[in-house]
Formats: sequence, C-alpha cells, structure tokens
Amino acid sequence: MKFSEKLGMQYNNKINEHLAFDDVALLPGRSDFEPSEADISVWITPEHMLALPFISSPMDRVTEAEMCIALAREGALGVLHRNCPTQVEVEMAKKVKREEISGIIRDPLTVTPDTPISTVIRIMREKNISGLPVLDRSGDLVGIITNRDVITANPDAPVSSEMTPKEKLVTVMEKEILHEGKLNTEKVKQLLHLHRIEKLLVLDELRKLTGLITLKDIKRLEDSPHVSRDAEGRLMVGAAISPFDHERAIRLDLVGVDILVIDIAHGMNINALKSVEKISKDVNAFIMYGNIATEEAAHEVITSDINNLASLRVGLGGGSICQTTQVTGVGLTTLSATALVADAVQEHDAHISVVADGGIRGSGDIAKAMGVGASAVMIGYLFAGTDEAPSEKVYIRGVPMKRYRGMASPSAIRERYAVDRYTRGTKRIAEGVEGMVTYRGSVRTLVRDLADALKAAYGYVGARNTKEMWEKARYAKRTWVGFREGLPHDIIPESHVQDMLDTL
Ligand code: XMP
Repeated sequence: MKFSEKLGMQYNNKINEHLAFDDVALLPGRSDFEPSEADISVWITPEHMLALPFISSPMDRVTEAEMCIALAREGALGVLHRNCPTQVEVEMAKKVKREEISGIIRDPLTVTPDTPISTVIRIMREKNISGLPVLDRSGDLVGIITNRDVITANPDAPVSSEMTPKEKLVTVMEKEILHEGKLNTEKVKQLLHLHRIEKLLVLDELRKLTGLITLKDIKRLEDSPHVSRDAEGRLMVGAAISPFDHERAIRLDLVGVDILVIDIAHGMNINALKSVEKISKDVNAFIMYGNIATEEAAHEVITSDINNLASLRVGLGGGSICQTTQVTGVGLTTLSATALVADAVQEHDAHISVVADGGIRGSGDIAKAMGVGASAVMIGYLFAGTDEAPSEKVYIRGVPMKRYRGMASPSAIRERYAVDRYTRGTKRIAEGVEGMVTYRGSVRTLVRDLADALKAAYGYVGARNTKEMWEKARYAKRTWVGFREGLPHDIIPESHVQDMLDTL
C-alpha cells in the first residue's frame, strides 16, 4: 500500500486533501510485545544508525556544538546551523568531533606549570570542569591540577606549586583501554578505584597526552548506552550547507562531518540540484537533500547524480516559525508531504531515509510521521526550549522561556549567511517569524521522554520496529469534535481552581 493512500490521498487531477497531524489519529493494532521492547532505531545513512530517530533543525537558536554533543550522546543527531561564517561552523564541527572518542575526552583543556592558580580557578568555573592536565612548553605531560588542589591555594601561586607532579601521576596507555573504537570501561573503573582518583590521563607510545577520562564520563557512558558514533568512535554530527557553497562543504567534510544537510526551502530548484551534484563529487560525507515536499521532487532527486545521497529532508511551510505558506501561498502539510516522498522512495526501492521536517509539537506527531514512511523527524521548536539550544534563558513574569526564530525571519535575514535558504539575489522577503518558546530543561530528558512515548505508540500500533510501523500504521481522519475528545477535557487544572475561587 502506498503511504499516501493511508491518508486517503488519491492520484487524479482533482485537488487533493492534505491532512495535518491533528487531522488524524493512529489506529490500534494487535500487539504481542511490551512497548519497552519496541525498537525505534533507524538507519539514517547506509553507515549511520540512530538509536533515537530525532534530528535537530539547523537553526541558529537550536543547534550549535552543545546541542549536537548532547543529542549524539543520547543516540540522536544534531545538525549545525550555517547562519555564520564558514570558519565558525567548521569550529563547531571540530568541537563535536573532538569532544570524545568512545568516552575519552580529546584535546582536553590544559595549562602550563607557570599559569597562576587564579586562571585555573576561572577556567574551571567557566568551563564547568574539575581538573586540568599540566603540559610544559614542549607539550610533555608534567602534572595535573584539580579543584581540590586550588580551593585553599594562593591565587597568585603558579600551578607547579600545587599540582600533582609527574612522578605521582596515574596514566594509562590508550591501546590498553581502547579496542576497535570501544572503551574497556571495566578496566578504566578498576584503575580509577585502585588509585582513588576521578581522572585518568591517557597517553600514546611517545607518552604524549591523547586524552582524559573522568569518572563522570564513565558513569554517563554507562547511563547512555546508545551514543551516535562514526566508524572511528567519534560523536556523529550533521552540518547544514547552502547548495551553492562548495567551499563550506569541502571544509566541513575535511573535519569529518557525517552528513551534509542541504539547507534550502525549495529543493526542487534545479540549479540547486545541479550544484549539489557537483559538490557531492568532492566530499566523502553523506548528503541529506532538501527541503522537498512532493513525489515529483523526490523522483527528481533520487534519479539525480548526487553521490552518497542518503536522506531526503521533507517539509514546506509546516514549521512553527514558518510563514512561507502565508506569504507565498505555497505549502504542504508535513504529514502528507512525508507520505508522498516516502512513496517515491519505496517506488524506487531506494535505500534513502525520509526525514519529516517542520510542525512536530510532541511525541504524537512523531509517531504519526513515522507511520507514513519517515525514518526520523527534524525538530526545531521543541529543542529550541532546551538548555542546550544556543540562547539565553529569559524570565517573563517569573516564567522561564527561550528565544526562537525562523531562519528567514527578519532578524535572521539581517545576519545574511542563511539568506539563500529562502532567497537569493535581491529577494529579501521574510518567510519566518520570531518569538519565545517554553523552557523545557535538558534536551537529554526531553528526548528520553519522546523516545518512551514513541515506543508506547509502536506498542499500540503493534509495530515492533520502524519497518513494521511503516507496514502496520493505519489512520483515521478525525472531526473537530473528535480532535477535542482526544485531548484532556472537562477537567479544571488545580492552579485554575484557585484563581476561580479567588474571583468569586
Ligand atoms: P519546527 O516546527 O520544528 O520547524 O519549529 C522547524 C523547521 O522549519 C523550517 N524553517 C523555516 N521555514 N521559514 C520557514 O518557512 C523560516 O524562517 C524557517 N526557519 C526554519 C526548517 O525546515 C526547520 O527545520
């Protein structure tokens, strides 16, 4: 069955009804397993698996390095925005790739023996770290200084007077604890316990520092078993590029970005497609092409000459901050567009993932998108409210909120770099809006909650995994009354009761 048929879409010359997330509900199906057993992992490229099918939008109020690191550690994926000079995006990508290899912190911050203790205290506070390896001018390891050493020390004293010196350092050779990209956490824990320390310095054969392992990181590794990693054990990262920015693509590729995400509102623009064909010949990264929203566009892209085409990014006008449909009259609902593109992928029997992008407001929408052939959803709005999104938390009448804006909103356009996602040349019409979103705490907790809810949805549908979700998901169209029935109703929140009584 075609995915679009599930939504009652017909292929004739009549105007098609395009249903949105709220127009439909998934129907329950026979299930012989517990929701916790549902497997929501997906292949996003032929070489990259995501344990959680969530991808952050490449938007400057959503995804920089911190978001990518947090999402990769949970088994999801972050896509760096491109509303910045190439060098800045490259640095962000480097930061993610250097963050750790299989639990080992690469390029840890270091100090020299003559650094004043006051500087160490400042670095520790600013970066929220509790220890710094000490290297001499030739880069040799000569000590470590931890927060315990500096608490009562004279701030003007040099690091050399308070550090644990070379003779007393506990170190380990990298090859003793890392095999085929996997860290032997048991061995590391034994060493940490044996020496009653919280940090282990990792050395290569020349006794040069190659990394640092902390007890905190080991605990985190054990707590998040599904980290998204590349073949070398580094965290996975995506990065947005303009389809016309050959140089940016090559520089990000050199850093080892796993997926280059083509970031243009109208991916069926043939100039863009041709340009990406050329770019793809010069990079190793996989390509996620988009945005597209129709079956014809999908056919065009799938049959194009793009090397390593792994994924299609689907949506036009459905995002929370989108104004494209209002301004231009053009748009599709994300649910229907996803079904149409997934149909084309199925027809070609192509190993290409489909990413539903725009309009996801909660786990229910994610489940509905997965049922019409998505391999993952791209999320801006929900992630913009988390700690890891790059904007300050602001309090409005005591309520914490964060700022969020479309990449074609007036203020984003003024920053110029992402302008060609929506416009090229002289056209500078705002196709996005900006505003505030509810603060949602850590993205880690959020994606865990979304994952649990998605597994529950698979349980109701009777789908053990995403492939079964594609086969088994069925939809009912809802009336407005039915939609209301599906929400909590006729209950007065306790906080409102107080207000009501106050007004009596
Ligand atoms: P959500 O609903 O998650 O949508 O906030 C995020 C997606 O919206 C797209 N996007 C825009 N679309 N004008 C638009 O019409 C804009 O200014 C804009 N900025 C982002 C993009 O696909 C993103 O992933």
